[in-house]
Amino acid sequence: MKPVHIIVVLVLVVICALLTLLQPVGDENLAITIEFAGSFHPMVLHLPIGLWFGVLCILFAGTRVKSLDISNWLLWGTALVWVSGLCAYGSGIMLYLGGGYGDAMVLPHMKGALGFIAAVAVFGLMVKARARLPWLWAGAVVVSIAVGIAGHLGGVITHGHLMEKAPWVVLREASVPEPEVAPPASEPPASDAITAFDAVVLPILEEKCIFCHGTRRAKAGLTLTSPTTILSGGSQGPALIEGQADDSLMIKRILLPNQHNQHMPPIGEPQLTPEEVAVLKWWINNGLRATVDDIPAEHGAWVKSSVSNTLE
Ligand code: HEC
Repeated sequence: MKPVHIIVVLVLVVICALLTLLQPVGDENLAITIEFAGSFHPMVLHLPIGLWFGVLCILFAGTRVKSLDISNWLLWGTALVWVSGLCAYGSGIMLYLGGGYGDAMVLPHMKGALGFIAAVAVFGLMVKARARLPWLWAGAVVVSIAVGIAGHLGGVITHGHLMEKAPWVVLREASVPEPEVAPPASEPPASDAITAFDAVVLPILEEKCIFCHGTRRAKAGLTLTSPTTILSGGSQGPALIEGQADDSLMIKRILLPNQHNQHMPPIGEPQLTPEEVAVLKWWINNGLRATVDDIPAEHGAWVKSSVSNTLE
């Protein structure tokens, strides 16, 4: 094996590792563009997984039928796994840089994927160096474990934890009666007075949530720009229940421990202060129809600063 092969492979693995240090971009237009490139990730990522099973089949055939010379098949198969793995990795990085995914969810998946890329690289070099079958099998086991871990950590991001979907968990939750839901606020505030939402809630959401839950990008289908869109909610239904802040999805997500992968805003993003959480809760409990005049004194500081902003 020529040293140049080892060097090229090593350099590419190191580049992949360095990519994990990048941070999501702050500029919204750039984020949208990068995220578009990243949206190919779900399409590309299954290639290395499927191709890897092909490589395992070749290895199996070579082990069973000793007269078969599998070395070239194995080499090209592994090369395909690796190149498609790099494409999946690159598109995944784009998705991350476009923002919208918290570090708590993405970093474990990113490290798992990096482990897979490195394991396939080592396996490929072993094939190239014509390692003996037992060694190749040992390498193949490591790669298979790596692909399992990386794939699972990716699945958690899109589908949630596996055990949350377990029938016994889902059925138990379904048997707990739903809380009484008050009818949504239908009447807008009578006068053209500034609503409490515009005065104190929107500024918080704009600063902490709307980058990901706005009209241009609505993660989980949730737009937090008006009481109506918040009420109509996202993929899991209404983000608030009027009068029941603690049962409202948006508050539940905010109050989850920071490291929880469903905590909002995702860890790594600017977090809400306790005062901001208190304002959101007050609004859900009392304020959907309230105007700026109804806002109690403890949230007064907000009123002053944000109303003067709104009136400017
Ligand atoms: C960096 C991007 C980002 C920020 C900032 C952010 N979110 Fe999210 N949010 C997401 C993503 C991605 C999802 C979908 C994945 C999930 O359900 O965790 C989501 C899902 C949600 C959901 C579940 C919606 C549904 O129906 O599935 C709620 C509620 C939510 N976010 C509320 C908020 C609130 C409130 C804030 C601000 C305090 C916020 N988010 C800030 C990215 C973000």
